[in-house]
Amino acid sequence: MMKISICGKGGSGKSSIVTLLANRARDRSYQVLVVDSDESNSGLYRLLGFDIPPTTLMELAGGKKRVQQQMKSGFSPGESEHQMNVLAQREISIKDIPYPHILQRDGIRFVSIGKILQSLEGCACPMGVLSREFLKKLRLKDKEITIVDMEAGVEHFGRGVETSIDDVLTVVEPSWESIALAERVNSLAAGSGVSNTWAVLNKVTSNEMASKLEGELGRRGITVIGTI
Ligand SMILES: Nc1ncnc2c1ncn2[C@@H]1O[C@H](COP(=O)(O)OP(=O)(O)OP(=O)(O)O)[C@@H](O)[C@H]1O
Ligand SMILES: [Mg+2]
Repeated sequence: MMKISICGKGGSGKSSIVTLLANRARDRSYQVLVVDSDESNSGLYRLLGFDIPPTTLMELAGGKKRVQQQMKSGFSPGESEHQMNVLAQREISIKDIPYPHILQRDGIRFVSIGKILQSLEGCACPMGVLSREFLKKLRLKDKEITIVDMEAGVEHFGRGVETSIDDVLTVVEPSWESIALAERVNSLAAGSGVSNTWAVLNKVTSNEMASKLEGELGRRGITVIGTI
């Protein structure tokens, strides 16, 4: 019973690692729910082996316009955006999510928060609001695990998406930017109340490179739990 989010720099390998983790957790008899919380990239469904993407949870919530309206009308002085209710349910269990908003294949279930589809459609805040609320209301049973593919960077921390995440795994590729981002993720995750943060090294081509990266991250208080 765990909610894990996968963070990191753009192109570091988040979606690939989400897919590897989901397959491995399924092989170990976990009921896996993958949540696509990246509003820009849309290929995760293909990595997971689905032919078509699920209809988004944004559609289930009545569409982006409705959520935007709720965000405006729900905003009164002194009230935090964090108290908003976009989804009608107070609690959500995996079996409550209707098809085609959830797809299932080979023991892996998959939902997608929403995508930016048009130019000038406004900022992505409604996706952040929905991601945060969905993850907060999601009640997992024993042996259920949720793996969240985050958008690149750290804006999702600003939106509070991690407030109900148990573990954050940062994907680090061999670059200074990627190490610097991991350091920021580590401190933002601690500020969001996340219990554990870890790093996985990706695109590593030698043992020397792995030790160097592990040393740099270790100095920043970040534990590496795997290298690809
Ligand atoms: N270990 C690896 N070795 C070689 N190529 C890799 C490895 N991991 C990922 N890639 C490739 O790097 C590219 C980016 O990977 P991926 O899409 O998983 O990253 P991402 O962090 O999800 O990117 P984005 O920020 O755009 O969502 C892809 O073409 C992927 O196939
Ligand atoms: Mg991705």
